Order: sequence, then C-alpha cells, then structure tokens
Amino acid sequence: MWRVKPLDAILATAEKKSLHRSLGAFQLTMLGVGAIIGTGIFVLTAEAAQKAGPGMIAAFVIAGFVCAVAALCYAEMSAMVPVSGSAYTYSYAVMGEMMAWMVGWALILEYAVAAGAVSVGWSGYVVGLIQNAFHIQIPLAYVRGPFDGGLANLPAAGIALVVTALLVIGTRESATVNAVLVAIKVAALTLFIALALPVLKMQNFTPFAPLGFGGISAAAASIFFAYVGFDAVSTAAEETKNPQRNMPIGLIGSLAICTVFYILVASGVIGTVGAQPLLDSAGHGLRPGSPALSQACQAIGDAKVVCSKEALAWTMREIGWPQIGNLIGLAAGLALPSVILMMMYGQTRIFFVMSRDGLLPNALSSIHPKFHTPHVITIITGVFVALFSAFFPVGILADISNSGTLFAFLVVAIAVVVLRRTDPDRHRPFRTPAVMFVAPLAGAGCIYLFFSLSMETKLLFVSWAVIGLVVYFLYGYRNSHIARGIVDVPELASDAPPESVPPMPGAPPPGAH
Ligand code: ALA
Repeated sequence: MWRVKPLDAILATAEKKSLHRSLGAFQLTMLGVGAIIGTGIFVLTAEAAQKAGPGMIAAFVIAGFVCAVAALCYAEMSAMVPVSGSAYTYSYAVMGEMMAWMVGWALILEYAVAAGAVSVGWSGYVVGLIQNAFHIQIPLAYVRGPFDGGLANLPAAGIALVVTALLVIGTRESATVNAVLVAIKVAALTLFIALALPVLKMQNFTPFAPLGFGGISAAAASIFFAYVGFDAVSTAAEETKNPQRNMPIGLIGSLAICTVFYILVASGVIGTVGAQPLLDSAGHGLRPGSPALSQACQAIGDAKVVCSKEALAWTMREIGWPQIGNLIGLAAGLALPSVILMMMYGQTRIFFVMSRDGLLPNALSSIHPKFHTPHVITIITGVFVALFSAFFPVGILADISNSGTLFAFLVVAIAVVVLRRTDPDRHRPFRTPAVMFVAPLAGAGCIYLFFSLSMETKLLFVSWAVIGLVVYFLYGYRNSHIARGIVDVPELASDAPPESVPPMPGAPPPGAH
C-alpha cells in the first residue's frame, strides 16, 4: 500500500497523450475565476454572516490566505507533474497508493458534494427570481430540503440532472462560453459593489465579532468553499502552453481577483443591510441550515440577510434596487450551472484516472460509443449529486465538501516538502517560494480550518475515510495496476481522459484495453 507510481511513468503518460497545448496565462486565470466564483459568494455569504456577523470579512481573508499558500504548493506540483488527476496523481507519486486512494476518495467529497451545494445555491436564486420578477409563488415544500422546512429541493435536483445529461452528450464548456460567464459573474458582483459601497453605514460593522473568534473560524471553514475551484486550473496543466510560467500566474491570479471581489461584496452586505446573526435564548448563534434557524427566520418574515437563500439579490431589493436584485438572480441562474458542470467534470476525470490505474473497476470508465464520454460514471455521479442537492441544505453540503478539499490540500502541502527531499534534482519549473515556511503554513491552515468545521462534518469525514479504506483493501489493493506490475503508458485513445483526445480513425473500440 506504500507502493508509488514512478514519477517518470506519470510524466511519460502525459507525453504520450500529447494534448494540444493551447491555454495561456490569461485563459487560465479566466478558467480559475470561472470555476471559483459561485455559490460561495452568492449564497454562503448569508451563512458566514450567521456564523460570524460582520467578522465574516476576517473569515474571507483567512480562507483566502489559506488558499493562497495552498495554491503556491499546488503550483509547484502542477507545473512539475502537469498531468490529469491533480492531488490524486501527485500523492500517488510521492506518498504511495493508499494515500493516493484516500486523496481520490476525499476528492469525491470535494467535487461531487460541491456540485450538489452549487445546485442548491442555483435553486435559491432561480426560485427567488421567479417569485420576485414574475410573482409566481412556488410552494416551499418543493424548493427546500427537509432541514430547511421543505420536502425536497426539486429545482436543485433538476439542474444537477440537466448538467449530467450535458456531460453525457459530451458538453464541455468552451473557452468562449467560460469567458462570457465570467464576464456575467464579474459584472453582477461589480454592480453589487458599485451600488452597495456608497451607502455603507459604519455602525453596521459593530459589534464586529458577536460570536467571538470561534465564530470567525467557523465562518472561515465554511466560506473556504467560495475559493474552491482554483485547483481546476491545475487539472488543465496538460493543456497549458508554457505551464512553467502560466500555471502559477493562473492559480494565484484567479485567487487574488476573487479575494478582492469577495471582501468588497461582503463589506457591501454588512454595510447596507447589517449582518448580525440570529441567536437562541442562550445567546448562541443558531446553526445555518438547521430547522431552528428556519423557524426563527419565518417568525421574523425572513427579514434578515442571514435568512436569505439569495443573499446578494435580497440585499439589492432591500436597499431599493429590486430590478438589480433580479438581474443578479439572473446572472447567478445563468452562471452557476457552469460551476456545477466543472465540478462534475472534475469528478468524472478523477474517477477516470483512478479507474485507469486499476483502483476502480474498469467498467466504470467505459466510454459511450457515440458520445465518447464516460457515461456510466457520469450518470452515477449525477444521480448522487441530484440526491444530495434535493435533500441537504447548501451549508451542510459546502462544509462536507470542504472537509475533503482540506484533506487533499494538506496532502499536497506535505507532498511538496517530501519531494524536495526525496527528489531534489528533478526540474521544478515553478518553485514554491520559501517552501519550508509556506508549505507548513498551508498544512497548518488546512488543519486549522478542518478543525473549525462542525463536529458533524468532521465525523462524517472520518466515516467516509473509513469506508474508503475498506473499499481500498477489498478492491484497489489487489487490482491496482502497479500491484499487478503494469506500469502502463497508455497508448490508446481510449486510455486518455475522454474528450481530450478525439477518437482516432481505426482506433480500437472505446473502452478496450
Ligand atoms: N467556489 C465555488 C463556489 O463558490 C465552488 O461555488
């Protein structure tokens, strides 16, 4: 279980596939901003306010900082090992198969559960838009999950299934579509900032931390979700021109742009409508996504931003810009599905690489004869995403997703240091600056945020990890290609991640090995 996949074999895999290298620094940054901005800022701002009050600004800074140092570690790995699979692949080379499996297993949380969270966020905005712009009331029972006072969030499950169908027929967002959607998101946030900042009331910023530093830490652990996605940049390493230079620019650049936007947007929310949390009779903050908070909100007619499922649109309506609120709802409605698509695509790609390595059954990565996509794994992923999003509130899904992501980031931070020791002479196109300081800082940051998650989330993560270990010892341990002595350099088009390589004339039937 400590066997590693030799780095040279991994790099040879990348060379054999020789994807077309077309992405430059600007496109990578756009790819990052496209994957990063989503439910986090549009929806979870309300949850962060409920956990930290105005102190959520500090939470955004802390989470952004942890992501920045983690991204510096990611950048060294992704420039050095520019292949698919991101953290999973890096750990296979450095820390052995069991660790790689655990990272891949945790990435399921990162990608699939995150896709569920974004679906729920999308539903909140679209339902709000329909109700406010067209005055059509949809019964709460069908647009909220059971934790939130409803039965099932049908629009959320619906969008997850639509995105699944798009992925099965081979939709991949083109750079042009991404650029348009990034423009829409950035325009919506800019408009929000431009209208909110001039009417800030400084008194809304006090008390700054009504629930203390514990509240700020808890909010940081949740709002970390708003930054997830920058690693989508690293998974595009194989398609990047001069990854040595462009990868780090794309990672750090997209993160920096988003951090500035997030801090301004959060200040806009706090300064205009206030962000004090709703408390129980003992003075503790009510838990976001809990029936208790849902009831407290109903009692005050949802008259606080912490009650809103569409925080930014709600804020605009509240300060006298109802049409702008609807426009922001429209922007979220148009742009969030692409975040779901990227998350689910990332998930299928990770599964694909894991199954190519023999850690998951080959059948899972079978390719559709007509669409040339891994339809089996896409549909399985899609059904689970739809179920998560129908029944769980956005905050719980985001927290669960964060637990998996933080674990993966921690492993990457460790891997960078280990590799500097074990393979010091390998060419590193990008070197993490002050690695002996930055990598431990990233690791410590991930551990701090992980332990700031709720107890339920941590327990869920541990249970998930235990299930993962059982699955590994029952299946992957014996079936792994490395275990069977196959250090394969895929030569068939069907071995490469789907859609990256067009089917070659005369190639063996898809799925053949
Ligand atoms: N960062 C992404 C979002 O906020 C996942 O939706």
